[in-house]
Amino acid sequence: MSQRKDTLLSPQIIQAQKEAISDIRIKNEEQYSLGAPRKKAFVETYGCQQNVSDSEILMGMLAQMGYEKTEQKDDADIIIYNTCAVRENAELKVFGNLGALKHLKAKRPDVIIGVCGCMMQQKENADQIKRKYKHVDLVFGTHSLYYFPSLLKDVIMSDTRVIDVRDTDGKIAEHYPLQRAKGPCAWVSVMYGCNNFCSYCIVPYVRGRERSRSKDAIVAEVEQLASSGYKEITLLGQNVNSYGKDLDEHIDFADLLNAVCKIDGIERIRFMTSHPKDISDKLIDTMESQSKICKQLHLPVQAGNNRVLAAMNRHYTKEEYLEKIDKIKAKMPDITLTTDIIVGFPGETKEEFADTLDVLKKVRYDTIFSFIYSKRPGTPAATMDDVLTAQEKKECFSALLDVQDKISYEKNKALEGKILSVLTEGYSKTDSTVLSGRTEGGKIVNFAGSDECIGKFVNVKITDVRTWSLIGEIIE
Ligand code: 5AD
Ligand code: SF4
Repeated sequence: MSQRKDTLLSPQIIQAQKEAISDIRIKNEEQYSLGAPRKKAFVETYGCQQNVSDSEILMGMLAQMGYEKTEQKDDADIIIYNTCAVRENAELKVFGNLGALKHLKAKRPDVIIGVCGCMMQQKENADQIKRKYKHVDLVFGTHSLYYFPSLLKDVIMSDTRVIDVRDTDGKIAEHYPLQRAKGPCAWVSVMYGCNNFCSYCIVPYVRGRERSRSKDAIVAEVEQLASSGYKEITLLGQNVNSYGKDLDEHIDFADLLNAVCKIDGIERIRFMTSHPKDISDKLIDTMESQSKICKQLHLPVQAGNNRVLAAMNRHYTKEEYLEKIDKIKAKMPDITLTTDIIVGFPGETKEEFADTLDVLKKVRYDTIFSFIYSKRPGTPAATMDDVLTAQEKKECFSALLDVQDKISYEKNKALEGKILSVLTEGYSKTDSTVLSGRTEGGKIVNFAGSDECIGKFVNVKITDVRTWSLIGEIIE
């Protein structure tokens, strides 16, 4: 019991954050009343949906402080990078972007530059910023997210650099303000952290141990979303199948899904990510029986070879994974399946990689998210030796895409001529003359239509397909 209490952020700390928000707001309002323009905030997010969700919390706090959102760095009074540490590429991009801000800071010394998220939870990265990026005012790790108002207040009021990387397992805070992205779909975190320690992955080191939010808090948030007009929610966690294991209440993820399905107004429920070792028959049965739960599953396999899977510390074999997929397909034949794949894990040979291709051909995923292995210092795999050269890894990667692109296209092609229910999210990001929405399976559909469709379900006949999206027309 006491352990659970320790996980929740104390009321005193929450109160201190509310006061910091109010102090910053008063200062911003004073400047506004003297004729200064409204202050603007730019938040750029890297990495996974958990980071997107954390940025919504940051934006919510900033809005309460009186900042307006801007998409232009040059306009902003505060710039925040919410970083990802999963692969080196994302890290290099952040350092590059921060370097480029030196000029901006020289021109406008009042602009506040902050960096947060998974990269900053690693001491080496935070130290590097401290030493080499002196124009950065505020650095805070994932465990310090909820302390952002008081950290920012210190920067503003005391004009000092603030670095806060605390070494705890992280807390949960309820009732923090959120500024969600526009549209009918919302992300809802149900748990934080990960206990799995896959040997290549930095997440357990930067996000801490698994912590579940209480069912009541999640249900209250979803009820609030429903009453604000949201139609679709995605329940988020690094490993949602572990939901509830740390709670006093006897509850698992399937129970949580059943509770959320009862909420009127929410018509589609998705969730991610599931770990194949933990996906239970109860969860599969719940997915099948609850009509609101989208028949879509992201089930990262990572690799197809049993030696590699064991070295990755994944706790399943290729055969066990395929058996689960067969069970899922038997219950939900039209399910959309997606996965994550790592190519070139240390020690992986070309023959072993062929097992990954075999999984792709057997499962026939709709889409895959594939990555070349990136060495993460501090993880067990970082000390393992490579067999394949960088060039050979690239060749394997390209072979993987060749196999998958064909399957993705074929699976989309099978939808041609079908009429699908699409929840319209807005105008397409790549072509602002067409609307864009998703099918129950999570596939993007572009179609002609007007503003009234946004936020609504429309029936769309699929007239053409691409590898990663569908094209259609509204059927009255
Ligand atoms: N290198 C490459 N890909 C990785 N992922 C996690 N860690 C690494 C790494 N070190 C991938 C996994 C995971 C996804 C979110 O990122 O496939 O499922
Ligand atoms: Fe990383 Fe594995 Fe946890 Fe996913 S389950 S976050 S890959 S350690």
